[in-house]
Amino acid sequence: MKIFLDTADVEAVRKAWATGLLDGVTTNPSKIAQSGSKFRKVVAEICNIIPGPVSAEAMGESAEEIIAEAQDIAGIAPNVVVKVPMTVDGLTAAGVLEKEKNVRVNVTMVFSTAQVLLAMKTGVSYLSIVLSRLDEIGNESDILIEDAVTIKRNYGFQSEIIAASLKTQNHVLSCVRAGMDIVTVPDLLFFQMFKHPLTDAGLEQFAKDWEKVPK
Ligand code: E4P
Repeated sequence: MKIFLDTADVEAVRKAWATGLLDGVTTNPSKIAQSGSKFRKVVAEICNIIPGPVSAEAMGESAEEIIAEAQDIAGIAPNVVVKVPMTVDGLTAAGVLEKEKNVRVNVTMVFSTAQVLLAMKTGVSYLSIVLSRLDEIGNESDILIEDAVTIKRNYGFQSEIIAASLKTQNHVLSCVRAGMDIVTVPDLLFFQMFKHPLTDAGLEQFAKDWEKVPK
């Protein structure tokens, strides 16, 4: 399983990259806005830190607008992946970008099994299923996780599925159990995954006992 960081915070990317465990980064317009920096600057800085895929979102509405904008965004760095929306125009653009323009695409805001199927049929490199926002309205994100993995397995689609909008380690666990390709996690959750109270207690005890060992 690959681990991406879901952030536009350049320092958070640098810190997570230093662990050697990070495979990619995903951003979205809200995260770019929170960073307080200019879009192209943030994306270029993140692409400089990490050689893996870095998703940056196209905001056009028509297929033509999205195609033009995506080609421009893809020019920022060779490892840029362009996020396009899960709409008729977004998927129309996605097929053209992947097959004719040599631009890797991540279809974003995917919330249903039908949307997963359509996004995969376009042949995109990535699609992002958005978990906690489903849970917030009372839908079970676990079902979408299972369905997405099943569709990929049953029909041999090549798209890598990104589980996004993860807030808890239980979300990560559901993805691991289902065989999800990628989880993209906020930096807080990434570093929480290293922790366990028994690890802390055990190491503390070892440190105390080590003091008693004659040296
Ligand atoms: C995914 O494509 C989304 O941009 C992102 O992961 C949403 O995360 P959030 O629900 O934490 O804002």
